[in-house]
Amino acid sequence: MAPTPDELIAPSAPILLFDSGVGGLTVLDALRRHLPQAPVIYVADNAGLPYGTKSEAQIAARVSGLLGRMTERLRPRLVCIACNTASTIALSSVREVLEVPIVGTVPAIKPAAAMTQTGVIGLLGTQATIRQAYVDRLEHEFAAGKRLLRHGAPELVEAAEAKLRGLPVDSRLIARAVAGLRDQQGGDRIDTVVLACTHFPLLVQELGEAFGPGVRFIDGADGIARRIAFLTQGQEFSRNTEDLALFTSGDGIAGLEPALHQRGLMRIAVF
Ligand code: DGL
Repeated sequence: MAPTPDELIAPSAPILLFDSGVGGLTVLDALRRHLPQAPVIYVADNAGLPYGTKSEAQIAARVSGLLGRMTERLRPRLVCIACNTASTIALSSVREVLEVPIVGTVPAIKPAAAMTQTGVIGLLGTQATIRQAYVDRLEHEFAAGKRLLRHGAPELVEAAEAKLRGLPVDSRLIARAVAGLRDQQGGDRIDTVVLACTHFPLLVQELGEAFGPGVRFIDGADGIARRIAFLTQGQEFSRNTEDLALFTSGDGIAGLEPALHQRGLMRIAVF
């Protein structure tokens, strides 16, 4: 679909960032660094969280339906699916039905393959993400000759949601996720870990301590923000304080207010 001519885009037209929960805030942080003036509406499908334990059919139906409704209602200039699970499953079908540019989230296997010295890369994602053919294709294309060890870690989604609420992170959840990679054959040689779920960069400090020295982490947030900045080049942005907002499908935002306010998300509404 051809992008809408820039002159037809109202300066107040938002960028819609979508995730199942608060993970996409890691993408919002990067986006705010690249495009501080952009009006952004963050849409969280809290009522559907977690996506990672759902089937492909459930996720595809939920994401297409929800983004269809929200695009009609909010008229965004661009939609970013700031969720690896939703992107690896539903990106192409959403692109077929929505008439706005869509930016997806791709597990950062390509840069990880360029970074690794030992040739062993770990990938932490949701259970739904790590089994996708999309990930097989990335591995085949960019990490041939390397070893990619995958682990589905739903416990990290739970830990990240808790951390953002200011609750203590249960170190057993972190240890379980780390063991899920380290205990695989060759896991002791992992030196690069792809955080293939937008929730996980929120736990990079805890993960770094648990993996120990010599392990580097990579995620897609900055690359996504750069892609959005590129696609909106030449467009005008204007926003007032009301133009950074969070829409949630459920009441799962209790305790998140300080983290949301800190990011300028002052207007919070249930859709
Ligand atoms: N943040 C989502 C992702 O990037 C997953 C969280 C969930 O399981 O809903 O995959």
